[in-house]
Amino acid sequence: MANLSVHIGPLRLATPVMTASGTFGYGLEYADFVDFRLLGGIIVKGTTLHPRQGNPYPRMAETPQGMLNCVGLQNPGVDHFASQTYPLIKDLPTNVIVNVSGNSPDDYAECARRIDALEGIPAIELNISCPNVKEGGMAFGTTCQGAASVVRAVRRAYGKTLIVKLSPNVTDIAGIARAVEAEGADAVSLINTLMGTSIDIERRRRRLSIGTGGLSGPCIKPVAVRMVWQAARAVQIPVIGLGGISSAEDAIEFLMAGATAVQIGTANFLNPAVSGEVARGIDAWLNAHGVADVHDIIGVAE
Ligand SMILES: Cc1cc2nc3c(=O)[nH]c(=O)nc-3n(C[C@H](O)[C@H](O)[C@H](O)COP(=O)(O)O)c2cc1C
Repeated sequence: MANLSVHIGPLRLATPVMTASGTFGYGLEYADFVDFRLLGGIIVKGTTLHPRQGNPYPRMAETPQGMLNCVGLQNPGVDHFASQTYPLIKDLPTNVIVNVSGNSPDDYAECARRIDALEGIPAIELNISCPNVKEGGMAFGTTCQGAASVVRAVRRAYGKTLIVKLSPNVTDIAGIARAVEAEGADAVSLINTLMGTSIDIERRRRRLSIGTGGLSGPCIKPVAVRMVWQAARAVQIPVIGLGGISSAEDAIEFLMAGATAVQIGTANFLNPAVSGEVARGIDAWLNAHGVADVHDIIGVAE
């Protein structure tokens, strides 16, 4: 067996394979399908300071090789998470990481502070890239200043591993990655969904309730690999790659582009066992190619 263990800041991951926020519930829903010890971590659903209802239906549409969603951060809020969900997931045999969203830097910071108090949560992932909410969300992730302001506020409030999730809906991903690194992020993860829409031509209207949504799935993979490659060359901190991964080969592409770890999102909906299969598949690929340590393929692609 090859060495699959990697580090994200101070956090050790058993393997470089994690599951992406919003696509794996709180993990428990997948317990019958995945041996969590095969995963470096589970990123749970986006959590906010106050409960959110999300957007009206319809909020999903299928597209060729992908899907659009405008769920809009529906969640019961951080205090409900802490009192009801945390006790159920804190002892899962993998890193449980909370994805955090907000309307303002103070909002993000207060949510992060409350999660900091939960001993069994070793890291948070800041979502500054959600395209489906009116306030906050992607607005912070599309300028260096906006991204820096959120990370600065959270870094003051939160002492554990801090991952910042970047938006692909920008022209200069390297600049944004450098801005959040300068404010003390331990890692960046990318990409969140690409903004898109879809029109029902018989009804002559857009399919999603709020008009636009975030595109995910295999169709976005080349964009994601390109952005991971650019970000990995712009910063010293680890890059976590995601966007369209559904096989070990896809994951290895991201690792070779410079990602230290990967996340699996939409593919969980098609095959709930896929994350464990990808972790096993990376090990098999490394063994078949005589590679003893996953670090030996990270960032090798020119
Ligand atoms: C239904 C759905 C809900 C999502 N919810 C969140 C969320 O709450 N927070 C977040 O940071 N990303 C969220 N995402 C984005 C994914 O985590 C991921 O960045 C994106 O889907 C690209 O990866 P994929 O192509 O493997 O799905 C969501 C994606 C989908 C499809």
